[in-house]
Amino acid sequence: MTGAASHKTFRTAIVPAAGLGTRFLPTTKAVPKELLPVVDTPGIELVADEAAQAGASRMIVVTSPGKESVVSYFQRQPELEATLERKGKTALLEKVRRAPGLLDVEVAIQEEALGLGHAVAQAEPNLTDDDSAVAVLLPDDLVLPVGVLSRMADVRARQGGSVLCAFDIPKEQISPYGVFDVSETDEQDVKRVHGMVEKPAPEDAPSTFAAAGRYLLDRAVFDALRRITPGSGGELQLTDAVALLIKEGHPVHIVVHRGGRHDLGNPGGFLRAAVDFALEDPDYGPALRSWLAERIETDRS
Ligand code: G1P
Repeated sequence: MTGAASHKTFRTAIVPAAGLGTRFLPTTKAVPKELLPVVDTPGIELVADEAAQAGASRMIVVTSPGKESVVSYFQRQPELEATLERKGKTALLEKVRRAPGLLDVEVAIQEEALGLGHAVAQAEPNLTDDDSAVAVLLPDDLVLPVGVLSRMADVRARQGGSVLCAFDIPKEQISPYGVFDVSETDEQDVKRVHGMVEKPAPEDAPSTFAAAGRYLLDRAVFDALRRITPGSGGELQLTDAVALLIKEGHPVHIVVHRGGRHDLGNPGGFLRAAVDFALEDPDYGPALRSWLAERIETDRS
C-alpha cells in the first residue's frame, strides 16, 4: 500500500505516553520511559517515524503532568543546531533535526491514570473536522518491519470502519493482551472481528489473535469511549470501546502481522530491542556481535 492512499484515511496519530513507567524505576523518577534510547534514538521517535511513514502529518502525545519532556523532545533546538553546524558535525545535526521534522506534535494531558481508553479520549479536543479516523500507536510496542499501518489504512479504505493490528500469540501467553473473536475474510491475514476482550484467562480467550499496539480507529470510537465503564484492572479500556462499537454493528477488522515485535515496556524486552537494533547498526553492530559471542562463550566455559 502506498503512503498516498493512507494519507486519505488518516492524518492524525495519537500516542499515549502518560504511564508512570514503574517497571523502569528508579530511572523513571527523572526520565520518561518513552525517551529511553534504543541504541541512540528514543522509542517514541521510532513510533513517530512509523506514523509519519504511514501518512500522519501530526501526532498528539497524551502525557501526564511532569512528563512534558516527551513533547519537548520534538521541539527544535536552534542553539544546539547552530553549534553542530559551526563544528561541521553534519551527521549529528541530521539526527538532532530528525524528530522535529517528522510531523507536527501536540500535547494532551491525562490528569489521572484511568486507563488506555481514557488516555486516548483526552486527544479528542485536538481533533478537527477532517479527522474521520485516527491512528493510535502504543509506544511500548515496536512492530517490525514498519508498514502495517499502511496495510491497515488500505483495509479501512475498502471495508470502512476500524482496523487493528494483531499478532498470533501462543494461547498460554495470551492473557496480557486484548484478544479478538474473529472469522475469515477472502483476504489472507485480514479477519472480521466479532468481539474483543481485554486480558482474558487463556481458557476464556476467543482466539490466539492479540492486539499489538497499532489501531486505526473510526472517529466513532470517541463516542464509545464516553459510554464505557471501568473494565479489566478497574480501568477504562480501549478494548471495551472497540467491543462496544462491534456490538452496535460498526465494522472492525484485523490485519495479522507476521513480522517481529519488541515490547519496550519492560527492561527485558527493551534490552532485546536495543541489542537487535545495535546488531544492525553499522557503527556498533560488528563490535557488539563479536563481544556478545565471546561473552556467551565465556559463560559456557
Ligand atoms: C494494551 C492494550 C491491550 C493490547 C496491549 C498491546 O495493554 O490494553 O489490549 O493487547 O496494550 O501491547 P497493556 O500492555 O497496556 O496492558
